[in-house]
Amino acid sequence: MIGRHRHLIGLEPLSREEIVGVLQLAISMKEVLRRPIKKVPTLRGKAVVNLFFEASTRTRTSFETAAKILSADALNWTSASSSVTKGETLVDTARNIEAMHPDVLVIRHPAGGAPQLVADHVSCAVVSAGDGAHEHPSQGLLDLYTLAEHFSGVRGKAVGEKGAAPNFGSIAGKTIAIVGDVSHSRVARSDLHGFTKLGARVRVCGPPTMIPQGMETLGATVHYQLREAVEGADAVVMLRIQHERIGDPLIPGTREYSKFWGLNEKKAAEWLTPGCVILHPGPVNRGVELAPEVADGARSVILDQVENGVAIRMAILYLLAGGAQGAHTSAAEGAARS
Ligand code: CP
Repeated sequence: MIGRHRHLIGLEPLSREEIVGVLQLAISMKEVLRRPIKKVPTLRGKAVVNLFFEASTRTRTSFETAAKILSADALNWTSASSSVTKGETLVDTARNIEAMHPDVLVIRHPAGGAPQLVADHVSCAVVSAGDGAHEHPSQGLLDLYTLAEHFSGVRGKAVGEKGAAPNFGSIAGKTIAIVGDVSHSRVARSDLHGFTKLGARVRVCGPPTMIPQGMETLGATVHYQLREAVEGADAVVMLRIQHERIGDPLIPGTREYSKFWGLNEKKAAEWLTPGCVILHPGPVNRGVELAPEVADGARSVILDQVENGVAIRMAILYLLAGGAQGAHTSAAEGAARS
């Protein structure tokens, strides 16, 4: 369970305390991840099935890695090589996989709402690995973890070292800009819920055609000029254009997009505060939303996000596969001691 929840479908339904519970557990999980022998028996006998109806590099690999470090059996399923190609429905697919007794189904699907539909029809735990433009909750959690490491000054310190644990209260009062194709981004939505629940001020920015209605009601301020959005920000999350979810073109071309909403070295040097870090969920379209020098530069925490993603997914699987049974702290200690 994650607090009161059997499934992880999004960050919107989670309370601040439930979010912080997962983040706290991930501290111990990161320590396990960084060990020379990264294997603990915590979820031995449990099974995790990754059901991916869309391509993925980071999310699928890190859920698999997370399961294996915790000694769960991890099975990868992709729609392209499945009976979905013969017309089998999502619910029939999930119920047939469930008949094989997995403990957790991790689902990525192009349709918003697909993980909830599955959760309504199976008895095992369901985790959304991203559904349409709805939410990508594990990405939101790993972004929060990465920000807290930076804001509490523990980035680069050895995990487990005294004073090296991120303080999740450090996110409160910070200003975070989310820039790009916000309309089609499930990452933007999970980030927005997570950042505001932990007390950050959120600015969203992009071409008017890529900013949905109602952002203000979710607690964000809306900006159409990149400079206005990023000046004075403590962190900037850059997003790619989600071409796979766009029908008619929303911008004249990627050159215009890059000119007005892309971040290059010159803009970063002139507009960002010295301590401002840059996040990106990946995959990065180099030279479009981010210049390679910025993606690989000193401000970038993109690979920290990837590492933290494994720790976060270990924590999620641990909680939902029944490892914790509600006792976050002792569960974390147990995993770390194993
Ligand atoms: N951040 C993210 O979801 O990346 P993948 O599509 O590679 O999983």
